[in-house]
Amino acid sequence: MKKKVLFVCLGNICRSPSAEAVFSGLVKNKGLSINFEIDSAGTSAWHAGEKADRRMQSHAIERGYDLTSISRQFNPNTDFDHFDYIIGMDDQNISNLKAMARNRQDLSKIYKMTDFSKEFTYNEIPDPYYGGDAGFELVLDLLEDACKGFLETIKDS
Ligand code: 4NP
Repeated sequence: MKKKVLFVCLGNICRSPSAEAVFSGLVKNKGLSINFEIDSAGTSAWHAGEKADRRMQSHAIERGYDLTSISRQFNPNTDFDHFDYIIGMDDQNISNLKAMARNRQDLSKIYKMTDFSKEFTYNEIPDPYYGGDAGFELVLDLLEDACKGFLETIKDS
C-alpha cells in the first residue's frame, strides 16, 4: 500500500508546496516514488488556484526543486480519510488541523514537520511570506533536514 502524505501550511504557496517538492525529490532519489502519494494543502483558501509564490519558486529551483503544485484548501471531509500522514509546518497549522479533526483517528494523523528534524532545533518552519531571501533559504534548509528524518521514521512502518 502506498503511504499517503499531505503537507499543510497556511497559504499552500510557500512552505507546503516546497515540502511536497523536497520530499518527492528525496524519495525519487532513493527509488521509492512508487511507494508514496504526496500532496500539499493550505488551511486557508486565500491563494487557492495559484501557483507557488515566485520568490519561493526561485529559491527552490536553485536547489533543483520545481514547484509545480497549485494551491488548494485542506478539506477535512476528504483529506483526513485519504491521507496517512498530515504534516503541518507551524503551531498555528497544527491547532487549525486539530480543530478540524472529526475523531481520534483524524487527530492521530496530525504531525509537525519539525518533529522530524535531525540537525536543526527549530520548533516550526517559520512563515517566509513577509520576510526576505534568508527566510526562504531557511525554509528549504529546514525542510531538507526534516524530510530526511521523516523518511527514516516511516520507512520501515
Ligand atoms: P505559506 O506562506 O503558508 O508557507 O504558503 C504564506 C502565504 C501567504 C500568506 C501567509 C503565509 N498570506 O498572508 O497571504
